[in-house]
Amino acid sequence: MVSEADGDYIAREGDAAMTDNADQIAEWNGPMGDRWAQMQADLDALTRPFGNAALAAAKVVSGEAVIDVGCGCGDTTFEIARAVGANGSVLGVDVSRPMLVSAEARRQREGVANLKFVEADASAAPLPSNLDLLFSRFGVMFFEDPFPAFKHMSKSLKPGGRLAFVCWRAARENPWATVPIGAARAAMGVPAPQMDPYAPSPFAFADETRTRRILEEAGFTDVTFTPFDHTVRLGANAADGAEGSIRFGPAGRFIREMGEGAIVQVLPAMTEALKPFENADGCAPPGATWIVTAKAG
Ligand SMILES: C[S@@+](CC[C@H](N)C(=O)[O-])C[C@H]1O[C@@H](n2cnc3c(N)ncnc32)[C@H](O)[C@@H]1O
Repeated sequence: MVSEADGDYIAREGDAAMTDNADQIAEWNGPMGDRWAQMQADLDALTRPFGNAALAAAKVVSGEAVIDVGCGCGDTTFEIARAVGANGSVLGVDVSRPMLVSAEARRQREGVANLKFVEADASAAPLPSNLDLLFSRFGVMFFEDPFPAFKHMSKSLKPGGRLAFVCWRAARENPWATVPIGAARAAMGVPAPQMDPYAPSPFAFADETRTRRILEEAGFTDVTFTPFDHTVRLGANAADGAEGSIRFGPAGRFIREMGEGAIVQVLPAMTEALKPFENADGCAPPGATWIVTAKAG
């Protein structure tokens, strides 16, 4: 749990609970944030290939000032801090207290001086200005209304400043997410509900046309979308992968909604469905993302 001492180290900005993102903030600040913080090492290993592709596109150089939006436990924030060096700085912004506590503990352990974490809703909180880069690894798809959110964040960049983030492409291109939950739903006899494809979710930025519009309406230019595909290692084998996908994937939410007893009912079906994705390295279905870059106008 968060202690008073933790609160001293992580700055807080704005009143996050008053924004339209209150539902997402509550999610990431509650049990989901706790789970992500607990599983940080596994999740970092799983998402690092995608984050590395985004970092390569971001072309961070020494001396730059950067914000890492939705930085979570800070894996990419530390990487950026290393790249900008002592003359640069990076601010990790997130709404999840449990994840920030973990990030700040690492910052202190490693004595990283050019890095700060702030607990804030990036779409509304005051942000530093004149930045070189806005970066994010899977942290920008959770705004209730991304149009004003990106307008707000774009103001923190200097003219010609850069945006670089990685987001998931469509769910149908991401069997790591759809196969386990599809098997779980089938095992429970529950059909998939109609979803608003643009509601805050990992897949909210899948539609290139709409995401481009969000960025261009925020004043960004030179917007590029580059597909980047990589396997998503869910576990050591199909059974382990099924359990992993319950801990952090969309299947977990479905099973929690069904009641914890549902796990026994769905695990065999999920394991069976993941068997085709077993290889010598573990259970690793394909993952499909966009690496998005743009310039501040
Ligand atoms: C999928 S996680 C990614 C975390 C981290 N970037 C990583 O790759 O490990 C999404 C992150 O976005 C954060 N987030 C969601 N809404 C946010 C908002 N309005 N402002 C700042 N962060 C937000 C969540 O708390 C969570 O840490």
